[in-house]
Amino acid sequence: MNQEKYIAHHLEVALQASKSAGSLVLEAGKAKHISVRSKQKNDFVTETDQAAEEHIIGILKEHFPDDAIFGEESGKTGTHERGRWVIDPIDGTTNFFRSIPNYTISIAWEMEPFKPLVGVVYNPRQEELFWASKGHGAFLNGQPIRVSDVDDVSKALMVCVPPHRRHDLADEYFERMRRIFLATSDFRSLGSCALELSYIAAGRFDGYFERCLGYYDLAAGMIIVQEAGGKLESADPGQPFTDERCD
Ligand code: IPD
Ligand code: CA
Ligand code: CA
Repeated sequence: MNQEKYIAHHLEVALQASKSAGSLVLEAGKAKHISVRSKQKNDFVTETDQAAEEHIIGILKEHFPDDAIFGEESGKTGTHERGRWVIDPIDGTTNFFRSIPNYTISIAWEMEPFKPLVGVVYNPRQEELFWASKGHGAFLNGQPIRVSDVDDVSKALMVCVPPHRRHDLADEYFERMRRIFLATSDFRSLGSCALELSYIAAGRFDGYFERCLGYYDLAAGMIIVQEAGGKLESADPGQPFTDERCD
């Protein structure tokens, strides 16, 4: 199989896995009571996060048994040689267990670390499916999307998210946020990094700043933003992305 077809096959399976996991998560979200466990300060997991991740990995492994996996809930298996899947089974877990509709299934695939070739972000509550693959553009429910054409910073609608797991970074963060706030038009925060990046790709937001994200939070959104004509950089200028969150 040539490289193009190989990438297209990964995209097709990622789309299938995200839709299938989306149905699982939607169904589980109808329960009267969702039990929540705290992994660390302000970092939560439910049984559905784990079940959705297992479900996604099952589908991916069926098609690509030799690919490595990096999942938020189950960690890392395999080596990068044949490519790696990066999975956030529910990005926006707090929204999920509070019945706020902004949560997503986020799945990326890459051959080289931090250079995703395929990204899929699915919001099952709003039936919005964002995807991109390297060189082929970004799409929302089958329609091409582009980042906004706002070129005047003072008109920018920004996403700024406080470092909720790292209160020690509050002063530094709010100082940066103050400067961003005074230079731009307004802020929003949706509680799902993958969704916020996808909204940037669709031109709904113009910029985004957050500290201490995990690579699984942003991998799929990253290629979607890039293919829609946008740019992503580490919050610490010159620092490369890493798998580890700064917490
Ligand atoms: C969280 C979401 C949220 C971001 C947090 C992430 P989770 O992911 O992406 O928007 O602010 O930093 O941890 O825990 O819901 O998968
Ligand atoms: Ca996440
Ligand atoms: Ca998650």
